[in-house]
Amino acid sequence: MPGQAAQTAQRRRREILCLLADGELHSGAELASRLGVSRAAVWKALRRAADELTLEIDCLRGRGYRLRRPLELLDASRIRAGLSAPSRAQLADIEVLDAVDSTNAQLMRAAGHGAPAGRVCFAERQLAGRGRAGRGWVSPFGSNIYLSILWRYPLAPAELGGLSLACGVAVACTLRDNGVGEIGLKWPNDLHWRRRKLGGLLLEVAGESQGPSHVVVGVGVNLRLSEAEAADIDQPWADLATVLGGAMPGRNALAAALVDGLLQALAHFRTAGLAPFLDDWHRLDAYVGEPVALIMGERRITGVCAGVAADGGLMLDTAEGRRTFHAGEVSLRPATDSSAAR
Ligand code: BTN
Repeated sequence: MPGQAAQTAQRRRREILCLLADGELHSGAELASRLGVSRAAVWKALRRAADELTLEIDCLRGRGYRLRRPLELLDASRIRAGLSAPSRAQLADIEVLDAVDSTNAQLMRAAGHGAPAGRVCFAERQLAGRGRAGRGWVSPFGSNIYLSILWRYPLAPAELGGLSLACGVAVACTLRDNGVGEIGLKWPNDLHWRRRKLGGLLLEVAGESQGPSHVVVGVGVNLRLSEAEAADIDQPWADLATVLGGAMPGRNALAAALVDGLLQALAHFRTAGLAPFLDDWHRLDAYVGEPVALIMGERRITGVCAGVAADGGLMLDTAEGRRTFHAGEVSLRPATDSSAAR
């Protein structure tokens, strides 16, 4: 738990950012009087925010302060208000954190302390965002979506294999409904637009071997990333600002739509498994018929992508015939890649 001084500083920072979020110019005197603090305290808080959050804040001499890019900060009550009635019934609570190591880690910890199914955690920034295959997830402040949901099942962890595909379908459909016409899935649940990664899901499961289990579904969607912020991403990437231009949905509206789709999918999977999601997965499959390599540790298995099996496995047509895999990372390879299937 941060100390009281740190909490006060964080609260003040949040209040100032809320006032500046509109991207308009605000004088130091106005900010100071609205917050009931001195102008020096405003200046100090803004300098800290700029340093810690790598925010670009213009300080115009004698005129005031302005965020170089307006922000729509996430707001738990706006997100809740955007949920459908069935989702509100599934929801336990929503927390929005300014910063956290990882929203997945936060909910895995909460699960260990008995947090209920339906707890949702958003962060404006992740300090150690987790991606698949041990990668990190680039998570700068205030511009993208970093979201996790905790869910509980009476099932064994081994029975949740298809859940990551079901959740991928839910997120892809939400993005499609929000204008991303060319959204596609790369097995098991990477969100691609024109062969570039727009987002991804990381499911972390724990439980007894015979059940019950709990799962944290983590979703990252790039809304607006600068080249500098994306410097550490090791594959072609995209953000919604590029895909949608001026027709971007608001962050809170999109956050609500994502939670809505995921809560429905999590509940539906409990009663029906992966089957009702498979048609959508096939429709969204961005790489069926394409030459790919499946990387499993040191092994690299090449073949032509033959879609997903009923249990969610990846089917590959290899030199030895059709094989189904349940783990590994799909890597796209040019049609001329002649490496033999191993
Ligand atoms: C991937 O590599 O494709 C999965 C990325 C998942 C990122 C999200 S962001 C919210 C949640 N918290 C994390 O630490 N990771 C997931």
